Amino acid sequence: MALKITVIGTGYLGATHAAAMAELGFEVMGLDVVPEKIDKLRRGEVPMYEPGLEELLRRHVAGIEGSTGRLRFTMDWAELGEFGDVHFVCVNTPQRHGEYACDMSYVDSAIASLAPHLKGPALVVGKSTVPVGSADRLAAYLAEHAPAGADAELAWNPEFLREGFAVQDTLHPDRIVVGVRSERSEKLLREVYATPVEEGSPFVVTDFPTAELVKTSANSFLATKISFINAMAELCEATGGDVAKLAEAIGYDDRIGRKFLRAGIGFGGGCLPKDIRAFMARAGELGADQALTFLREIDSINMRQRGRMVELTRQELGGGPFLGKRVAVLGATFKPDSDDVRDSPALNVAGQIHLQGGQVTVYDPKGMDNARRIFPTLGYADSALEAVRGAHVVLHLTEWQEFRELDPAELGEVAAERVVLDGRNALDAEAWRRAGWRFRAMGRPGA
Ligand code: UDX
Repeated sequence: MALKITVIGTGYLGATHAAAMAELGFEVMGLDVVPEKIDKLRRGEVPMYEPGLEELLRRHVAGIEGSTGRLRFTMDWAELGEFGDVHFVCVNTPQRHGEYACDMSYVDSAIASLAPHLKGPALVVGKSTVPVGSADRLAAYLAEHAPAGADAELAWNPEFLREGFAVQDTLHPDRIVVGVRSERSEKLLREVYATPVEEGSPFVVTDFPTAELVKTSANSFLATKISFINAMAELCEATGGDVAKLAEAIGYDDRIGRKFLRAGIGFGGGCLPKDIRAFMARAGELGADQALTFLREIDSINMRQRGRMVELTRQELGGGPFLGKRVAVLGATFKPDSDDVRDSPALNVAGQIHLQGGQVTVYDPKGMDNARRIFPTLGYADSALEAVRGAHVVLHLTEWQEFRELDPAELGEVAAERVVLDGRNALDAEAWRRAGWRFRAMGRPGA
């Protein structure tokens, strides 16, 4: 009989994973403890903006006309425990307030709520990003508290999905990593992922700590790449070099590669910043903090870029205070094709200028509601053109396609001054210059 799958936690990761599992042909039950989320999902609505996810969900959610009906949602742990053979834990692990370490309370409470309902053989699969050593601890907890005892097994299967590409990354992962302790667990996970494996996704089998470390080390490597190129941008600025050319040139070396070498205001979001911090905190607990002290520097290079953007803006406005200056900000989300503003470098820069007296007007294609919620005192406009109207300087801070397609001549008609600063090295400098704009970008020669 086909495996039945449950997904615990229906945020970015969980909602996407549940829909993808249904797409692969499994019967799926999703659970969340927030009733509003469940109500929305039952109507086929996605709680966030993620390209393709709503369509995928609507194709499978039971009760929606024309759907396969393979995907259902519940808030009832007993129903979930009864239903599933394989339970994926997809709850979030945010940074703990006032600390670097990650907050494991959602994972711990998910496992504690599920355990008493595991009455027969079951595999619980952790997907959340956790401190190394967590899987070992949670496996012991399950064996002790599940009525099925040792038949309630644990596996760790980190998730590498990127926001904006969540559906594609889940259906066609570039690798599947499973930390397992038994052949049975491995066999079940091979069954779950049979389709992507047949399509060529590598399937890497490891022990628990390696599986946990794969995720945090991958994110640390990506963060390092971004901070590396931003450090080079600082040197380019000090020497008159051009970091975009430099990235292109070093990127032709296929040992280095061109991806993740876009200099600018740095990384943000719900993953990279908190994951590298939690990794440092965990290394400290393990007495291995020296191994990761370099991540402190990666973090500080990254955070410094936001301040550099503020200073570049100040310079372009004549060097004094921001009082009375109108600043248009294009972009609020931490990356394009997402409505996520968590730890967004763009909003951080907008906020700093606003708090120093500048009159900031923000426009973002999808992030407006979330931005307004966390930063209600900023000005907001309904379009890029409206944000730019009357501005003394335009900041491009999130690289949406929409911004690359703007007509600099049209914007030039409404701006008070034609000065644009590209914080993402993504605009066509020549096109803006031709339309009479003074164009500056981080790590590139000026005007
Ligand atoms: C990241 C990892 O890529 C993903 O594998 C993991 O599962 C979760 O964390 P995500 O948070 O969606 O995914 O964002 P990502 O695409 O990695 O971008 C992170 C940040 O880095 C963004 O703010 C982006 O603008 C910035 N970035 C990215 C750069 O500044 N320069 C680059 O060259 C690339």
